[in-house]
Amino acid sequence: MIKSFARLMIAVTLMSSALLSSALVSAKVNDDLTYANYDQVKVKHVYLDLNVDFDNKALVGFADLELNWLTADTTKVMLDTRDLVIERVMVKTSINTWKAVNYDLAKRDDVMGAKLTIDPGFQAKTIRVYYQSTEKASGLQWLSEAQTAGKKHPFMFSQNQAIHARSWIPIQDTPAVRLTYTARIRTDKTLLAVMSANNEPDTKKDGDYFFSMPQAIPPYLIAIGVGDLEFKAMSEQTGVYAEAYILDASAAEFNDTQAMITASEKLYGEYRWGRYDLLILPPSFPFGGMENPRLSFITPTVVAGDKSLVNLIAHELAHSWSGNLVTNESWRDLWLNEGFTSYVENRIMEEVFGDERAVMEQVLGVADLHGDIEDLPANDTVLFLDLQGRDPDAAFSGVPYVKGQLFLMFLEQSFGRDKFDPFVLSYFNHFSFQSIGTDDFLTYLNQHLINKYPGIVSQEEINEWVFGQGLPESVPAPQSDVFTKVDNYSAQWNKGDISLTDIPTSNWTVHEWLYFINGLDRDLDNSKMADLDQAFKLTTSTNAEIAHAWYLLALNTGYDVITPQLEQYLISIGRRKLIVPLYRKLAESEEGLAFAQKVFTVAKPGYHPLAQGTVGDILYPTK
Ligand code: BES
Ligand code: ZN
Repeated sequence: MIKSFARLMIAVTLMSSALLSSALVSAKVNDDLTYANYDQVKVKHVYLDLNVDFDNKALVGFADLELNWLTADTTKVMLDTRDLVIERVMVKTSINTWKAVNYDLAKRDDVMGAKLTIDPGFQAKTIRVYYQSTEKASGLQWLSEAQTAGKKHPFMFSQNQAIHARSWIPIQDTPAVRLTYTARIRTDKTLLAVMSANNEPDTKKDGDYFFSMPQAIPPYLIAIGVGDLEFKAMSEQTGVYAEAYILDASAAEFNDTQAMITASEKLYGEYRWGRYDLLILPPSFPFGGMENPRLSFITPTVVAGDKSLVNLIAHELAHSWSGNLVTNESWRDLWLNEGFTSYVENRIMEEVFGDERAVMEQVLGVADLHGDIEDLPANDTVLFLDLQGRDPDAAFSGVPYVKGQLFLMFLEQSFGRDKFDPFVLSYFNHFSFQSIGTDDFLTYLNQHLINKYPGIVSQEEINEWVFGQGLPESVPAPQSDVFTKVDNYSAQWNKGDISLTDIPTSNWTVHEWLYFINGLDRDLDNSKMADLDQAFKLTTSTNAEIAHAWYLLALNTGYDVITPQLEQYLISIGRRKLIVPLYRKLAESEEGLAFAQKVFTVAKPGYHPLAQGTVGDILYPTK
């Protein structure tokens, strides 16, 4: 806390001009989750030349790293790797020939991986690392034919955020470094490869693919997917890549994507990335979505048939401004990515689907946040997070998302949209294609909002939001009239004044169902649970979020009718947000733990390495 305050004060006094501020951005080293000496040398471009070897679950080939030397002091380059096999390292000499050089691969650290030190003895412009990834790669999932929906072809995809790029690319794996990339990817000619780059809708499957991402991005946004993919356009600028079984359903579910782009451009300026496509992944994808530029990666669990979960698309699209254009320079500053994105996501939802839905989504988010804050150590409820050497995955919570969003809603409500919207637009433009820290944001905020319109929000309030624990008193409390009605019916049913059939649920949205289920007493007796189930068929709900909420309630109340469906759910879905709370709850009782361990044995081979790790830690805590 004291350190954060001191840092803030120094930042505020030092960075009085925008010019000075951007000069300092490139010199500081704030990310302690990388071995890279990125204050001395920066990788400005990487060319990947990789074969996708499904038999060995490996990417095999080389990476050419183009370097930009920042000081004359050194000729060494330190890179991040994790579980890579390094075969040899070459450098390009001044007469453009390749020469082998020595390198040192340090011992593996569980969080950081293994430092790769290369010293060509001169400030080489290009370094080539021949390597292959291994089956252990934390950033890749390899699915066999049998593990896919079509059953005929294998599938592979990457998930680099936060620090998994290093498990398939030897790189300066820090969001503080931005680079362009090109790639040649070879695979079986029946498969299509796509990347977070220039995917052409009319690409023919021939097993040999070229990509270019000409805009500088942090390494966590380099992404690849390879599978039996087909493309379907949703508009001229947007489309879906998916396995055939879900292609049409996805294109229909997400056909508001273009409208979302329009809404966002109206508020925050031009979409800068060209095309915006979606890649629908197998259900083992460990997240809801991932904002890989030009090609968001999306879980199939949001293809609900009624557009009820499309805020996920608004969210990943919003990252095209918050996160991909203006990037957190370290994982401590994740709230700059996710808080802004949650805020922008909700503004997009309001524009495209109206106030009522946007407010319901705020309320649901806030309820989740309260749950998280209750469960988390107080230190982890701070926006400017202290990772304490942990893997960012281990400190993942709703705090950077919803507390960050509430902070921005607080500013919006204090200053009014007429002042706040232009501020956010100018913030995105000012820091576009840069990686910045919380201090850079605060300096900009003070200059362009707080001090520009004095007497509205105090420095103490800002500090409390960013460096304080829990939620400040000034926290906005969104209210939804729709949910108030749900509350009333729920209370009347609880008191026995009405029966379930008196509740007008036929037009309820998924949001109302979620609010209703989450609001039910955690100790309802079995007969009430059975009544609910009979009336509303909740155990067999095909909406992944409703099923999740119901199973969680059932585990709390001890309603074990759900067991077969729960088992099936845990085996068929690998999205961490949906399965981890269920495993946690199960692990609280001896019987539940035994069941969970049994299910996990079956489910594990189909889970992504990240989900395997998280669930494994819950069920086998001593390991
Ligand atoms: N970028 C995140 C996913 C992420 C965050 C991966 C941190 C690794 C580390 C993505 O944009 C995201 O937030 N996804 C959410 C979407 C939801 C908030 C609408 C998810 O996966 O649930
Ligand atoms: Zn996000």
